Amino acid sequence: MNIFQEAAQKIIDSHYCVAFTGAGISVESGVPPFRGRNGLWNKYDPQSFEIDYFIHNTAGAWEIIRDIFYDLFGQVLPNTAHYALAEMEQRGLLKAVITQNIDNLHKDAGSTEVYEFHGSLKQIVCLNCGQKVNVAQVDMNRLPPTCLTCGGLLKPNVVFFGEAIPEYAASKSVDASEKADCMILIGTTGTVVPANTLPSRAKAGGTTIIEINPNPSEYTNRITDIFIQDKATRAMEHIMEAIDELI
Ligand code: APR
Repeated sequence: MNIFQEAAQKIIDSHYCVAFTGAGISVESGVPPFRGRNGLWNKYDPQSFEIDYFIHNTAGAWEIIRDIFYDLFGQVLPNTAHYALAEMEQRGLLKAVITQNIDNLHKDAGSTEVYEFHGSLKQIVCLNCGQKVNVAQVDMNRLPPTCLTCGGLLKPNVVFFGEAIPEYAASKSVDASEKADCMILIGTTGTVVPANTLPSRAKAGGTTIIEINPNPSEYTNRITDIFIQDKATRAMEHIMEAIDELI
C-alpha cells in the first residue's frame, strides 16, 4: 500500500474526517503564501494588517489591502485540491473544511461546510455600525471606502492581527477538531496562533493526522501520522484515485 492508499484508507475508515487548510492549498491557484519563498510577508509589512495600524493609517493600509487582496487575489480560481475536498464532502467522506484562508476558494469549489477561521475577503464590514456588505458593492477606486448607511470606516471582514477570531468559526472549528477521527492538514506552516492549536487539539483526542505539504511544518515531526511531501493538487489527485480504487 503506497502512502496515498494509506491516507485514502484512513479517510474511508473514518467517521468524522475534516480538512485544515492554509495558504499552501491556494498557491497553485496563483495565491502567494505568506511565508517562505515568494511569501507576501517578504514584500509587504504585516503591520498593514494590524488593526491599530489600519485605524490610524487607513488610506495607506487600504492601498496595500487593495493591491494584494483585491487586485491580486480577486482573479484567482479554485484548483483541483479545492475541488477534491468539495467532492469528498459530497461523497460523505469529509464533514467540514476549517480554513485559515480568506480567498473564498473552498466555497467557490463547492464546499459547503467551511469554517473561515480568519474571515473572508468577499465581505466588507463597517467598523461603526457593523453592517456587512459584499465586496462587489464597494467602490475600490475611492479609498478608504465608507459605509453607505452611516458613513463609517469599512474594512475587509478578515481577522487582522490583534482582532478576535469570529465566534461562529471559532466554535465550529473547535467542535469539528474535537469530533474528528481524521484530519487532513494541507499547506500550512502551523505558525499562527490560535488557528495552529486546532490540529494539536485533534491529535490530543486521538485523531489520525494526514499532512500534505512540499515542506515540513511545525506539525510534521510532532503530530503528523502520514506525511505526504508533495504539492496539494498532485497529492489530492493521487488520494482521490486511491479512494476510487479502494471503495
Ligand atoms: N501545496 C501545498 N502546500 C504548499 C504549496 C503547495 N503547492 N506551496 C507551499 N506550500 C506550503 C508551504 O510549505 C507552507 O508550509 O504552504 C505553507 C504556507 O505557509 P504560510 O504562508 O505560513 O501559510 P499559513 O500557514 O496558512 O499561514 C497562516 O498566517 O499571516 C497569517 O492569516 C495569515 O492565514 C494566514 C496564517
